[in-house]
Amino acid sequence: MHHFHYVGNQLHAEGVDLAAVARLHGTPTYVYSAQTIADNYRRLAASLAGLDVRICFACKANSNLAVLRHFANLGAAFDLVSGGELRRVLAAGGRAEDSVFAGVGKTDAEIRLALGAGVYGFHVESEPELERINHLAGQLGKKAPIAIRINPDVDAKTHAKITTGKSENKFGIPLKYAAAAYAAAAKLPHIEIRGVQMHIGSQLTKVGPFVEAVEKVLPFVAELQRTYGIRYFSVGGGIGIVYQDALASGQQAWWDAQPEGERPLTPEAYGAALTPLLAPLGLKILLEPGRFLVGNAGVLLTRVEYVKRGHGKTFVILDAAMNDLARPAMYDAYHEFVPVVRETERPALKADLVGPVCESGDCFAKDRMIQEIGEGELGVFMSAGAYGHTMASRYNTRALPAEVFVSGTRFEVVNVRETFETMIAGEKIPGFLKA
Ligand code: LLP
Repeated sequence: MHHFHYVGNQLHAEGVDLAAVARLHGTPTYVYSAQTIADNYRRLAASLAGLDVRICFACKANSNLAVLRHFANLGAAFDLVSGGELRRVLAAGGRAEDSVFAGVGKTDAEIRLALGAGVYGFHVESEPELERINHLAGQLGKKAPIAIRINPDVDAKTHAKITTGKSENKFGIPLKYAAAAYAAAAKLPHIEIRGVQMHIGSQLTKVGPFVEAVEKVLPFVAELQRTYGIRYFSVGGGIGIVYQDALASGQQAWWDAQPEGERPLTPEAYGAALTPLLAPLGLKILLEPGRFLVGNAGVLLTRVEYVKRGHGKTFVILDAAMNDLARPAMYDAYHEFVPVVRETERPALKADLVGPVCESGDCFAKDRMIQEIGEGELGVFMSAGAYGHTMASRYNTRALPAEVFVSGTRFEVVNVRETFETMIAGEKIPGFLKA
């Protein structure tokens, strides 16, 4: 469920008219709903109430400071993949002690930063990384708390580019070598074995692969508990969301209309399947959801620049592009497009929704049926709150889009649109080219 809906025929984020946001702050702009984030967080927490659970928001999905602060206020912990994300969490008022630090390529500087800040756990992805962390912790006179990421070799049945738990992926240590990795960790003087971690992929729409992965690693987790007295098991993130019919999915009626078996993966189903498997361990369970918490809590607001009628094709050319929302170009991802002003009497239009970037791949949707839309009118891409702004780039010297945070009838810009000056601030022409 989410809080984007029409009031009359005007699309609102909670109590805020999106046309007003566009008028005041321009487009393209990401707009986030605080209430949707809070609902998602509480619903997931409630679904896992039978466990000693810690929800670590995967910051890579959306690392805007306002969003991070909102999560800190809600009581969330954080899952980080860079020193930059750690600094963001701290800047937002979050606590390092509530953060876990993952990633296959942690640098010396990042490891030192995380050790100094006192993260709850390093999620270690290789033996050389373990040795590096041990060495740097020794230099700083600290003991580094770690969990090894095990790769359960389970097919998450999601997009190839977001599958992580197969043995051919670069992530984690295969289950069959994990015991040796823990034995090696136990010998290192500046390492404290604190937990175990896994993550099989993102945008999973069925609970089966989660269950399969947990069942597969459970005996090993229990063994770690006996041998090393580990305190936690992080089961990663990956709960999928609704992209198709995203606007309607905010309504109960939509939900009731979905045939049994085709309903999206819910936190309740996830909790019901995993709780009986995990509860007997008596361990703290960490979850690292990104998309589930913020995906449907954000939209990308955009304006039509031109409507170009080609040979047998209509192109709706938007002021948003693949640099603002990369998912369609990168993963062929589907994002629903809806008009800010809905008028039922308008005819339908079949069009390609494209951006202005000079690449054929800069296409959000091909042959999409939408309400007829004209130059200067507004629309939004739904479900853009996860991996939207965080994956945006400046390709074609386009400024990073603005971000607006909505709560009830209040809204504020929480990231101003970049200016040309800030975009080129680090660049210079060397003296030898000026002669
Ligand atoms: N934990 C780990 C170790 C991860 O690698 C990820 C995501 C998460 C948690 C959070 O997964 P989530 O709950 O959001 O599914 N850019 C892609 C998604 C990449 C996911 C990378 N890892 C997309 O836009 O679909």
